[in-house]
Amino acid sequence: MSLQTKLVNAGRKKRYTQGAVNSVIQRASSLVFDTVAAKKEATENRAKGALFYGRRGTLTHFSLQDAMIEIEGGAGCYLYPCGAAAIANAILAFVKTGDHILVSEASYEPTQEFCNHILKDLGVETDYFSPLVGRYITNHIKPNTKVVFLESPSSITMEVHDVPAIVKAIRHVNPDIIIMMDTTWAAGVLFKALDHDIDISIQAGTKYLIGHSDAMLGTAVANERCWDRLRERSYLMGQMCDADTAYMAARGLRTLAIRLKQHHESGLKIAKWLANHPQVATVNHPALESCKGHEFFKRDFTGASGLFSFILHDRLSDVQLSDFLDNLTHFSMAYSWGGFESLILANQPEELAKIRPVSGISFTGTLIRLHIGLEDPEDLIADLAAGLERINQHNHKANALQSLV
Ligand SMILES: Cc1ncc(COP(=O)(O)O)c(C=O)c1O
Repeated sequence: MSLQTKLVNAGRKKRYTQGAVNSVIQRASSLVFDTVAAKKEATENRAKGALFYGRRGTLTHFSLQDAMIEIEGGAGCYLYPCGAAAIANAILAFVKTGDHILVSEASYEPTQEFCNHILKDLGVETDYFSPLVGRYITNHIKPNTKVVFLESPSSITMEVHDVPAIVKAIRHVNPDIIIMMDTTWAAGVLFKALDHDIDISIQAGTKYLIGHSDAMLGTAVANERCWDRLRERSYLMGQMCDADTAYMAARGLRTLAIRLKQHHESGLKIAKWLANHPQVATVNHPALESCKGHEFFKRDFTGASGLFSFILHDRLSDVQLSDFLDNLTHFSMAYSWGGFESLILANQPEELAKIRPVSGISFTGTLIRLHIGLEDPEDLIADLAAGLERINQHNHKANALQSLV
């Protein structure tokens, strides 16, 4: 079955839809039992889809969980109130005091902050590795390494890991190490983490699954060996999303393939346009050769989503940055992505260097991150062209002033 068809149908069992097309929204804390026998049965099957207590989920949650397993593979899917909760709880489920964890230095900043502060206080040591480490990941593994955490592509500089080489090398040295991956960029579908022997695929469902920038969700799809522990520990940590959010994510799945297709097409068109722009030094789009790890993207991914970045030749002044960003028509500034709308953020190299504990940053120009939404890409190009021209005008004015002096 094609992915598009699978996404339309996943999780829509009769038990969950009850005669409608979509799953019912079953809001519940208490789930009542008619008899002592029914209570006993629910208790025995509370981890296997029985209605037991709100925090174990309702029919709405089960529908989304089933859908995620169908889409990503794996033994089970846990739902969290946001992506950061999914990351923190997945890691916490598999480490204890005295353990060591390896994390990609290109991972989402709060993932690093969680490790640097919360894990540190719990006596769990974190080391970082370059996203391009490949099989040399083995140089970082210690006898007490319990978890390796990947994110690919990274969400600002967009490097793509050589996942097969990393996984093979880890498994060779210590098959007990749990390998997790933040797969938000690929929405769990453009890269099949569990098919690549990743143990747990984690998403900020906030982004492409929800897809409309109006709710927050985390998902973690685990393989057989990790599912029971992930589920029980997350449950004990009080994790679960609400039924309305689970419904919205399931609804988002129905259009995910078609949205991603458009994000891919429009994003690539704009990335190629930027690559030919005289003010642009590099475009970090995984589908372009200029992106680090492009060859792994070509080999392992079935498409691109809408997030990428580019680096300008120049480091923009505060005035240039404001004139560029404040006056755009179709791009809003927000610390997010994955919705139907286009977004933009700028980073100066020194800001990024702070979250690159191993390699630092090798460029000097300003980095601009774009999320290309579902608008007509020609409108977005015109908006960016006008913005880049505003920057250019500042340069002309500065040069003119210089020649007067
Ligand atoms: C790559 C990545 N992972 C995880 C998260 C965290 O998701 P949430 O904001 O839902 O906690 C984000 C949020 O921006 C992200 O970009």
